[in-house]
Amino acid sequence: MFDFDRVINRRGTHASKWDNMAKLSGITSPDGIPMWVADMDFAAPPGVTEALTATVTRAVHGYYADTGTWAGALAEWMKRRHNLTIDPAWVSPTPGVVSGLGLILQAVTEPGDEVVVFPPAYHAFRRIIVSNDRQILDAELVQRQGRYVMDLDALASKLTPRTKIVFFCSPHNPGGTVWSAEEIRALATLCAERNLILVSDEIHCDLLLNGAKHTPTLSAAPEIADRLITCVAATKTFNLAGAHVGACFTSNPVFKQKLDARIAASGLASYNAFGMIATEAAWRTGEAWLDALLPYLAGNHDLLNTRIERAAPGARAMRLDATYLGWVDFSGTGLPAGDVAARVKERARIFASPGEQFGPGGDSWLRFNFATPRSILQEALDRLDDAFSDLRK
Ligand SMILES: Cc1ncc(COP(=O)(O)O)c(C=O)c1O
Repeated sequence: MFDFDRVINRRGTHASKWDNMAKLSGITSPDGIPMWVADMDFAAPPGVTEALTATVTRAVHGYYADTGTWAGALAEWMKRRHNLTIDPAWVSPTPGVVSGLGLILQAVTEPGDEVVVFPPAYHAFRRIIVSNDRQILDAELVQRQGRYVMDLDALASKLTPRTKIVFFCSPHNPGGTVWSAEEIRALATLCAERNLILVSDEIHCDLLLNGAKHTPTLSAAPEIADRLITCVAATKTFNLAGAHVGACFTSNPVFKQKLDARIAASGLASYNAFGMIATEAAWRTGEAWLDALLPYLAGNHDLLNTRIERAAPGARAMRLDATYLGWVDFSGTGLPAGDVAARVKERARIFASPGEQFGPGGDSWLRFNFATPRSILQEALDRLDDAFSDLRK
């Protein structure tokens, strides 16, 4: 019913993943394969295309009226998929999750305040913190039995009076970690003890592999609801990143009022109609599509992990519970990081995200987006075989 094998040519369509590749990576070869930014090469759910087609055909593109159905669709989705009850009145739409994070920083912190992140962590966290004149406080993740865990004792010892807020990524990007309720509760307890605001970026919460279950921070630790703001979106789940719509929700009326004041002050209280229509349609109609997508992604995950470890002896790919972002450590190959990068970029003509982008702990790693038709993934893996063939002699 949904054909994830279909190759859709995205070159020359303003697709950042494909059309910014040469500029950002220097890969100018016409057969370059982009495996960097987190969007998928699959068509969106048919219900999204139908909703957008109806809008386009009507051909009148005036201002969008928020009648409450959008937040209602989000609330129904969170209830259905994650058994989380949220009041639509808690929800503020933002032009994407990253802009939501920036608005949150402006709403509830001051310039110079410290923001905790758990590196290696999604690089835009670092950018939005620094560009809002706040400081990054790194709480480096540690690896245990092949997955990341938080070292909260180490974090507690680093906190200062300027530390105000925590950016928690759940599931985690990169590393695909689905945090347990206990892990989330331990973080929430620390936030309560040290009077920190907790921001839970759950944009990857629907992209679960092999039956993994996501626990929303609000479900794991309802007792800290007053210091919690959650960020979610339909854009990652349903491949609508270009729609640039996200949602922040909080049951704390003071946070909500401060956030809405920042949104209004930035002229962002009127929303992009195409984005709102597409994302509401996704929540309302996209479930069967998502249920078909997840096993396809799990298949790609297994293929990538197996073949990359075989291609480059010593490389180790993290077993992901979530996301479509393969996270591979090349330190065990014995090759310098620059050599690995050159082989991937120049010999394989693949643009992967460099691990150092993700902060401390990312240096010897590359992140490979595998949300692409299997034939493209196979071609990329064949090239990686060639790029590291001398290591297997
Ligand atoms: C953890 C995380 N948050 C936010 C985003 C981006 O959100 P948006 O495009 O809505 O700003 C991404 C994209 O990869 C992400 O991985």
